[in-house]
Amino acid sequence: MARPRSEDPRTSTLTVRLTPAERLQFDALAARRGHQNAASLIRAFIRSDPEYRYSIRDGDFESPVAARIRSAQRPQPFPINTNLGQTYLGDSIGLLHQVLEPNSVDLIMTSPPFGLVRKKAYGNEDADAYVDWFRPFAEGFRRVLKPNGSLVIDIGGAWKAGLPTRSLYHFELLLTLCRDYEFHLAQEFYWWNPAKLPTPAEWVNIRRVRVKDAVNCIWWLSPTPWPKANNRRILQPYSESMRDLFKNGYTPKLRPSGHDISKKFGRDNSGSIPPNLLALANTDSNGVYQKYCKANSLPRHPARFPSGIPEHFVRMLTDRGDLVIDPFGGSCVTGEVCEELGRRWICCEIDHVYLEGARARFEKPVKRLSRRTGQLFEIRAKSKPVVPYEIYPPCSLVKDDESPLRADGGRQRRSQPARSQGACREKPSRKRLAHRHASAL
Ligand SMILES: C[S@@+](CC[C@H](N)C(=O)[O-])C[C@H]1O[C@@H](n2cnc3c(N)ncnc32)[C@H](O)[C@@H]1O
Repeated sequence: MARPRSEDPRTSTLTVRLTPAERLQFDALAARRGHQNAASLIRAFIRSDPEYRYSIRDGDFESPVAARIRSAQRPQPFPINTNLGQTYLGDSIGLLHQVLEPNSVDLIMTSPPFGLVRKKAYGNEDADAYVDWFRPFAEGFRRVLKPNGSLVIDIGGAWKAGLPTRSLYHFELLLTLCRDYEFHLAQEFYWWNPAKLPTPAEWVNIRRVRVKDAVNCIWWLSPTPWPKANNRRILQPYSESMRDLFKNGYTPKLRPSGHDISKKFGRDNSGSIPPNLLALANTDSNGVYQKYCKANSLPRHPARFPSGIPEHFVRMLTDRGDLVIDPFGGSCVTGEVCEELGRRWICCEIDHVYLEGARARFEKPVKRLSRRTGQLFEIRAKSKPVVPYEIYPPCSLVKDDESPLRADGGRQRRSQPARSQGACREKPSRKRLAHRHASAL
């Protein structure tokens, strides 16, 4: 029987001149990878690279990213709006590429679906496919951001399925945004949630070979190395030791680290500059939003960030009247914060039930909730400093270390986890902790 005619016959030739050594290497590599010849190796290489997976459209080549952008539906305005803001229901790729004007946004403040092994109800991308999934959004971010604007992405880490090792997807995302989309990493932040449960239980509680994962990464990026910003907007109360120092004075000197502590160090600047570690629990279960959802039989969004996260960046990176968008709007926490702070805002969410719940945030009056719950609250200069969390220096509770190590790395599950005879289970005295803390600095 005659061979059927190919629909896409190979009629084009590519000639590459090689040295004899290169030719040998090429053939050897093809053979090692299981290909019959170099041409098959090249085709496999092209097929494996997402950027090369072009399809032909109207006689021209179209990348999967371009196809995704072209076929995205335009999201529709959702009936939650204010003088400052608007919600949209639908795919934010449509928002970024069809609705918003280029160079119109001052801040993109968002928390996309994470590349989780255990999926949330709203569905998550697999870690491996995550970066490719993100590309059409990244292109849209570049399109709509003003040159001195900022992109802030809160992203949680993920464990590899069945292993006590971590996915690299959020680092891959960061590298891709900087390498392929020419974002600059202004600074990386870490959001420590002190109330995080010790998960995954298998590695943390049962086999005891990992510690609890309580930190999200927050990538602060910008099209320029010089995004507009001012850290005076987000000062924190001074620590007790700093207040003592103002009272009792300080001798300027060169520290052993080489830092020259000048007289200026003792000047009261009405607050201390915060670190890039944001300590904020996410435990509010009784707020206006939750009550509204319960009363209206709506599901509460399972992955909300506390309002203190967007508040920090909105204050530091935008002025009143600036435009802030959240393309993965969820329950519209970003919109609520912007409303309170007098910024224009747009939240886009693909699932209407989360927007139904978001109504609670804009039905007046919007409540100011307490800082203790991690919700919006203005720190007044004279207010009592709130120091809600204690951070113990490493090894604060252990007297000695006789607990046997898991020499197999925890590969075998044991019914009774080994306990140390010598490990001290009592809380150390404040004096002892203070001593440890001082020696840790
Ligand atoms: C981590 S949650 C954001 C939660 C939000 N920060 C909050 O505090 O409520 C991510 C959200 O992105 C939404 N989402 C996923 N893909 C989307 C898309 N293409 N366009 C718009 N929203 C999308 C999901 O439905 C989910 O609600």
